[in-house]
Amino acid sequence: MSIGKREAQAQSRPSRAELAELSDKRDKELVAHFPSGETLPFQGRVLQLYRIKKANLQFQWETIRRYYPKRWRFAFSDLVLGFASLFFNPYRVCRKNGFVYGETPPLSLGRIAAFCNLTPDDTWLELGSGRGKGCFWISHFIGCRTIGIEKVPLFYRLSSVLRWIFRMDRVCFIQADFNKAQFHEATCVYLYSTCMSEEDLEILAHQMKTLPIGAKVVTVSAPLPKTAHFSERGSFPLSFPWGDTEGYLHLRIPYLDS
Ligand SMILES: C[S@@+](CC[C@H](N)C(=O)[O-])C[C@H]1O[C@@H](n2cnc3c(N)ncnc32)[C@H](O)[C@@H]1O
Repeated sequence: MSIGKREAQAQSRPSRAELAELSDKRDKELVAHFPSGETLPFQGRVLQLYRIKKANLQFQWETIRRYYPKRWRFAFSDLVLGFASLFFNPYRVCRKNGFVYGETPPLSLGRIAAFCNLTPDDTWLELGSGRGKGCFWISHFIGCRTIGIEKVPLFYRLSSVLRWIFRMDRVCFIQADFNKAQFHEATCVYLYSTCMSEEDLEILAHQMKTLPIGAKVVTVSAPLPKTAHFSERGSFPLSFPWGDTEGYLHLRIPYLDS
């Protein structure tokens, strides 16, 4: 290994205290995200589930109040999503496919867009786009081109049908594993990474080396593992039905191995 590379790695390595603090914070957020897990007593799980359901309703009400009057296409697509979900539970569907479901509320998407200075010239790539709500919101309220990659067939079909019905020409969905995605077109990648392991994030960070220089990557609850290809550019508050956390912005930087 060259001296330059070794020095860069040593500089970017977080301290033990930093790692311990991050891992503690992450554990708490995972417990909040999995109220049905073994970690809480029965009453605690019921209470937590009740809190999440209530928060979900509050976030949905906020979405209706703030965004439905502004874009009828978004309003109708969101209503159809809600109606379709009467027939299947997205959390259960996702679990059956071996993944964890959760949706980023539009309010938090607005904060991400503001922190990243997203403009209509950007290309938003959402890794694990779920039912497509995030891509629909970004497309309608920021105006940029959006690409959603989703592995669960039902979610992919649902979001693609809605995209077609409401003629969202600047939205595109791909059914694939995001670990094998093509990143070269994206200028901003979004990953709701709360439930991802450090190892999975590391693999993904390695894949994302193909992003163009200057591209932004936003993760939730934890930053990307330190690599010489990404520089962390700060964190900002985000809210989810299960609680408050932070989003992390990274920039794809040129890496010169001296
Ligand atoms: C926590 S949800 C996030 C949904 C959406 N991004 C949002 O923020 O509202 C994660 C989504 O990623 C999908 N997913 C997980 N691993 C994936 C993979 N390797 N390839 C493609 N999609 C994946 C899951 O099916 C699920 O829909």
